[in-house]
Amino acid sequence: MPTNTAAWILSSREQVTVKDAPYTPAGPDEVVIENSAVAINPLDWKLQSFDPIPTFPVKYPMILGSDVAGTIIEVGNNVHARKVGERVIAHCVGFAVGRPEASGYQKFSITPEAYAVPIPDHVNFEAGAVLPLSCDSAMAGLFLEDHLGLKLPAADANRKDEALVVWGGSSSVGCSVIQMASAAGYDVFVMASKRNHELCSSLGSVRNFDYADSDVVDQVVEALQGKTVVGAYDCVGDHEKTLKPCTEILVNSAGKKLVVTLLEPPGDVSANGVRTIRTNIRGTLSNPEVLIAVHSWMAEALAQNRLQPKPDPTVIGHGLEYVQIGLDRLKEGVSAAKIVVTL
Ligand SMILES: NC(=O)c1ccc[n+]([C@@H]2O[C@H](COP(=O)([O-])OP(=O)(O)OC[C@H]3O[C@@H](n4cnc5c(N)ncnc54)[C@H](OP(=O)(O)O)[C@@H]3O)[C@@H](O)[C@H]2O)c1
Repeated sequence: MPTNTAAWILSSREQVTVKDAPYTPAGPDEVVIENSAVAINPLDWKLQSFDPIPTFPVKYPMILGSDVAGTIIEVGNNVHARKVGERVIAHCVGFAVGRPEASGYQKFSITPEAYAVPIPDHVNFEAGAVLPLSCDSAMAGLFLEDHLGLKLPAADANRKDEALVVWGGSSSVGCSVIQMASAAGYDVFVMASKRNHELCSSLGSVRNFDYADSDVVDQVVEALQGKTVVGAYDCVGDHEKTLKPCTEILVNSAGKKLVVTLLEPPGDVSANGVRTIRTNIRGTLSNPEVLIAVHSWMAEALAQNRLQPKPDPTVIGHGLEYVQIGLDRLKEGVSAAKIVVTL
């Protein structure tokens, strides 16, 4: 049996300790991935720094990490779609469900078969690792019926008079939201800092606005004239700086009055008929048809260069010892970058 090593958090608010971890075989519907790269997400440093977080009760010792890229080395008895030797990326949900063996920051991670997405040879592990959590967050917010409920990506998608407002297009989640919504045929109107407009356009946005402009809301409302707005995705989750202006845009535009946001709003922030809902990735578990359809699209779109692993990875080191450095680095903030550790 292989020997496993993990970046453990032994008790609340402690720094990472790299040490042995049990090797857990795959359950019937699971695969074991030998990780070659892992990405750091804001939730990781927040859980380490601010525990307890009400929506994420965790048990110690625990292992953080949602994003992995590597090679399948074992499959469970009921697994048919994935096979040993396949290069995949996966969203690991271990710390959310109290299963350290299903977290990302270790040599071997377990994940449900449905969460593992094959990657083509031209996508290296470092690049692939930037995608899983951001794509699953984009998928939940855009396509679940009780979120924005948009049409799924399709080769012949064309809804040119329908527009989606995306605040924070250069964030990790924003890059995936732009790509998926645009593949589903919607006109994507994006707020990002000016230096990242080119990136947003390269991912499929049709209009970019500088969120630093004092009249940015008016600019967007004006540009949306004649369009039917299908809602807004706040890919930052700041009540004052991002959620409120998204709400104002929808109040003053024709179409759906719903903002999907990534962080829990402070109480009921519905205003002038515009509702707000926090992205609930777990909702994809009760809607496997959406999960399977979007993950199949991801595999195909990656193979055909229609889904780009963005933002680009910033590889900060090799080995689990770099996970703590990565957590500290992300806490300082990034602009259109994803911190990645290779293993
Ligand atoms: N609910 C969920 O399921 C879920 C899932 C994933 C993430 N999250 C949360 O969602 C947030 C985003 O995560 P992430 O990984 O995508 O973040 P990230 O990539 O680390 O975010 C950095 C980006 O945020 C942009 N940004 C910062 N302030 C902005 C503003 N006022 N307007 C527009 N853009 C702004 C920056 O853009 P510029 O450089 O262009 O200024 C930068 O590129 C985090 O708080 C995370 O914890 C929640």
